[in-house]
This record gives sequence, structure tokens and C-alpha cells, in this order.
Amino acid sequence: MRYSVPHPIPYQGSKRRLANAVLSHVGRHKYKRLIEPFAGSAAITLAAASSNLFPSFLIGDALDPLIALWQDIIQSPDEIADQYEALWNRERRNPIAEYYLIRSEFNIDRNPAKLLYLLARCVKNSVRFNPSGQFNQSPDKRRTGTQPTTMRAELNAAHRLLHGRSQAVTSDFMSLFEQARPGDFFYLDPPYQGTSEGRDQRYFESVSRKRIVEGLALLNEKGIPFVLSYDGSCGNMYYGEPLPADLADRVLLDVGRSSQATLNGNDHVTIESLYISRCLKYAGSHAPLPLAHFSPQTSMFA
Ligand SMILES: C[S@@+](CC[C@H](N)C(=O)[O-])C[C@H]1O[C@@H](n2cnc3c(N)ncnc32)[C@H](O)[C@@H]1O
Repeated sequence: MRYSVPHPIPYQGSKRRLANAVLSHVGRHKYKRLIEPFAGSAAITLAAASSNLFPSFLIGDALDPLIALWQDIIQSPDEIADQYEALWNRERRNPIAEYYLIRSEFNIDRNPAKLLYLLARCVKNSVRFNPSGQFNQSPDKRRTGTQPTTMRAELNAAHRLLHGRSQAVTSDFMSLFEQARPGDFFYLDPPYQGTSEGRDQRYFESVSRKRIVEGLALLNEKGIPFVLSYDGSCGNMYYGEPLPADLADRVLLDVGRSSQATLNGNDHVTIESLYISRCLKYAGSHAPLPLAHFSPQTSMFA
């Protein structure tokens, strides 16, 4: 499927396919700022910026080199594009061995262009850190990663959407909740419970369900609206435990077949939960836009 919204950072778990469904809950209300505290590839921010749904954006994540990358995209995308191209050419001269060298260098210097290169070249574009915070994902031996010219175009397109109205900060999500003010709207996509509390330490930081529950209670107390992606299922596998019903309303999204399931030759459909804060439900002007506005693969059912 081709997307018109730029998406320069390849990131497993990107919510670009859900962007229309998530943003439908913004309704017609004029908010001042969209905050994405678990931004990753910031798919929702980019989609919202391309539709001019908010006048300003705050991209947050606990992973410092990822935020440094976003700051470079906002300020000077050609510098990152040049560095990416140099890394890509370096690896072409000595495939795989250079990947491992660049990975070791990144684990010392935390250089944002190296993170971009590693994400573009690693298995399933899937960020993996060991318990001491070292990037440990292997290279994808079948694919070469995004071509430098394509990457430059994506970086520049994201820059044009974000420059002059966006900020990127390294932060734990809770401090962004604490600083939230009227006019803010949050989209939240924490690491799944199954990957952050179990043995598979996928992301750099983990987030307990207890902290999420406390954080949402704080947003509710402050009357700050949010949409949250949390638990879900794929076929008969369930991930995450649903959140308490008093925190938000739960809507289920059919996001279609997972690419992994298709590769494995089965028919599993992925269902993701969206939690919609009550302050959106009770304000008439926040009613979600009708589904006819959205792409066909994101049908919604209760
Ligand atoms: C599921 S991914 C988000 C993917 C994103 N929605 C997208 O479209 O690419 C979760 C993100 O949360 C970040 N993260 C983990 N713990 C965090 C914390 N305590 N505070 C803020 N961000 C955190 C991870 O670094 C990761 O980028």
C-alpha cells in the first residue's frame, strides 16, 4: 500500500495504518497542540501535520538518539540525509560486516544517523536493546534498506511538515502528562505489556501497566483528552490486559491481516484496542468524524 504522508523512520509497531482511525477522535474541536509521548516513528504526528489538524506538535520518547534524530529532521534534514547516505554506501562496500561495525559504534556514540541506518537495515525494522541498553538487533540479509535518495525525500518531506511548529524532547511520558495544559491532545502508544514486562525487552525503556493507569487517571483529573493504543489480539493470541473500564471507553479496530501471519501462510486478523478518554465523549463538538472518511482497512466495531 502507498501512503502520501512521509514516514522517514522505519519502525516496527508504527501506527501509520491506524492514523485515520485515531485522528477521527480529534473531531472538529480546535486544539492547540498534539503531544505524542511514545512517538517512535511519530506516525500519528506526521499524519495530523499533513492534515493541519493542530497548529503545533510535541514529539516525546524516552530514547535519546531517536529524539536527537527528530530534532535533526525538524532543523536540518539534509545533514542527516548526507550521513545516512555515507553509512549506506559504507555498508555496500562490505555488506553485513559494516552493519555490525556501525552497530558497535552506535552503542558508544549514540549517533542519530547511525540509529536511522540501523533501523532501516535491521530485521523487521525492529528496535531491540539488551538489558544494558545496547542495540542488539541483527541485519536483514534479504533487504538492503531504504535507498538514500528515497530517504532524503522522506526526511525533507517530514521536515516541511514539522519545521517551525514542532518540538522533540527526550522524556519519560509521565512528566509530559504532568506538564499538560488545556488545549493539549495526547496520542499514546506505550510498549505492549507483553514486550515490556516480560523477558522480551523490546524497547529501551519499559512501562508498567500500573504507571499507565496512574498516568491516565492524572490526564482525566486534568480534563486533558487522549486516545491510547494498548491491548489487542492476533488470531487467538491476546496481548496485554485491558485497562480498567472507568479510565476510558474501549473501541476495537480491525487492522486486517498481519504481514507476519500472511508470510506464515495463515489468515489471522489483528485487532487493536483504542481507549478514548471520556472528556472526548461528553463534549458534543468532539464527536468522531464519520467512518466514511477513513481508509477501508480500518473498520471499527464495539
Ligand atoms: C510502540 S512504540 C511507539 C510507536 C509509534 N506509535 C509509531 O507510530 O512509530 C513505543 C515507544 O515508547 C518509547 N518508550 C518506552 N518507554 C517509554 C517511557 N517510559 N516514556 C516515554 N517513551 C517510552 C519507546 O522508545 C518506543 O519508541
